Amino acid sequence: MTKTALVTGGTRGIGAAISVALKNAGYTVAANYAGNDEAAQKFKDETGIPVYKWSVAEYEACATGIAQVEADLGPVSVLVNNAGITRDTLFHKMTPQQWREVIDTNLSGVFNMTHPLWGGMRERKFGRVITISSINGQKGQLGQVNYSAAKAGDLGFTKALAQEGARAGITVNAICPGYIGTDMVMAVPEKVRESIIAQIPVGRLGEADEIARCVVFLASDDAGFITGSTISANGGQYFA
Ligand SMILES: NC(=O)c1ccc[n+]([C@@H]2O[C@H](COP(=O)([O-])OP(=O)(O)OC[C@H]3O[C@@H](n4cnc5c(N)ncnc54)[C@H](OP(=O)(O)O)[C@@H]3O)[C@@H](O)[C@H]2O)c1
Repeated sequence: MTKTALVTGGTRGIGAAISVALKNAGYTVAANYAGNDEAAQKFKDETGIPVYKWSVAEYEACATGIAQVEADLGPVSVLVNNAGITRDTLFHKMTPQQWREVIDTNLSGVFNMTHPLWGGMRERKFGRVITISSINGQKGQLGQVNYSAAKAGDLGFTKALAQEGARAGITVNAICPGYIGTDMVMAVPEKVRESIIAQIPVGRLGEADEIARCVVFLASDDAGFITGSTISANGGQYFA
């Protein structure tokens, strides 16, 4: 029987590449998204991967959405916490709402998704929890106090939960991408993007597929001895 994988924010950008790579690796895949119905429909039409709409920022919505995915596709054994947002601004201008939205999605969203699935993974003595953090959770980034705090929190979550999952056959790992050429990065002004590329030793943005391949590896049986780890995929920009 094929394993079922659930990818949050799995319909666009890095998440879409992860969904497709997992499907190509033989998993039954469900892709979650938040609100962009048009992009989700296009993704579904192109890939044949079913899409499910709810916000990872809401615990009850996650529990309900996961129950629906499991009813449709079977127990989820691979969870990829990929959904993420930015609300960038300097700290002195940051509103409590900008802080909360990023923490609710990028950090609490990881709890909200992992917690309802944890019991089933423990019972079945197998699970893979893979969270997409960020280089900016490792090094901190001006203009992203909210985002850096949430992404650093994801790494603490990963290291602590890995210790709880180890005896139950569940691995918990994180990936810290550097700058990848998705909508999130293409949305920053071109001048800023050029200055970002100038700081990347390999001289280019990363590709979503390069992150997806890390996910496929961490999900595989070959990665069973790797837990609590962080894979940095950033073109040499930062060595954690
Ligand atoms: N791009 C980079 O350079 C980079 C670097 C380091 C880390 N990352 C991290 O990688 C992940 C993916 O980034 P990306 O660049 O691929 O982003 P993206 O292109 O903006 O796509 C984000 C995806 O997340 C979904 N999403 C956003 N908020 C959500 C919520 N509350 N509930 C469920 N889904 C939600 C979006 O759904 P809709 O389509 O419905 O909006 C979309 O599918 C994020 O965690 C990001 O922080 C990205």
